Amino acid sequence: MIKIAIDGPGGAGKSSVAKLVAKKLGIVYVDTGALYRTIGYYVKEKGIDPKDAPSVVSCLPNIKIEVKFVDGTQKVFLNEEDLGDKIRTPEMSMYASAVSAIGEVRSFLLDTQRDIAKKNSVIMDGRDIGTVILPDAEVKIFLFASPECRAKRRYEELRAKGQDVSFEDVLREMNERDKNDSEREIAPAKPAEDAIMLDNSDLDLEGTADAIIAIVKEKTESK
Ligand code: DC
Repeated sequence: MIKIAIDGPGGAGKSSVAKLVAKKLGIVYVDTGALYRTIGYYVKEKGIDPKDAPSVVSCLPNIKIEVKFVDGTQKVFLNEEDLGDKIRTPEMSMYASAVSAIGEVRSFLLDTQRDIAKKNSVIMDGRDIGTVILPDAEVKIFLFASPECRAKRRYEELRAKGQDVSFEDVLREMNERDKNDSEREIAPAKPAEDAIMLDNSDLDLEGTADAIIAIVKEKTESK
């Protein structure tokens, strides 16, 4: 069993590359951002301000989140409903970022994440995987790229999905979200002390996956 933690800011390509590495290594890819997005979605549906911590916390007992893997793809169910791409909009990114700053929300999702890693070899992406969720992960990588480069990737990804967004809006939202996620008091997005920093501004998807696999090999073979 192996645990690989991939943390870093939005748009660094964590999910695409982690998916590819999971496939190449035959392990499970876990997208933890989807869990925060799911809570953000519930809160939005209820018309609650995601920054209103007491109201968000009072919702938690009514939320049941289940993670299932169908043909190697993660599906997250909110009270038995598969939300699919409904959690993938820029608005849901902001909702997720806001609810993720609330300590009770983070504790609520802790066991769900750890349980998956207990049962499977995983590559898990998020913001606090190496620092909080899997501090004993064999491999920890902090993946990053320049803000412009990350915004360009996110912009292209959203346009490809048919979403009508402007580059300026994507860049502004990305900077705002980076600030929220890295400056929050609880579990801020930051590299673990023993994380390897990987800048993929000049690497494509395959190049980034190869770099990660080389790090995994080096770490596991040296043990
Ligand atoms: O990775 P993502 O863009 O889907 O994440 C959405 C938000 O969820 C992100 O802005 C911060 C939060 N998040 C978090 O706080 N911790 C994680 N492990 C994953 C995501």
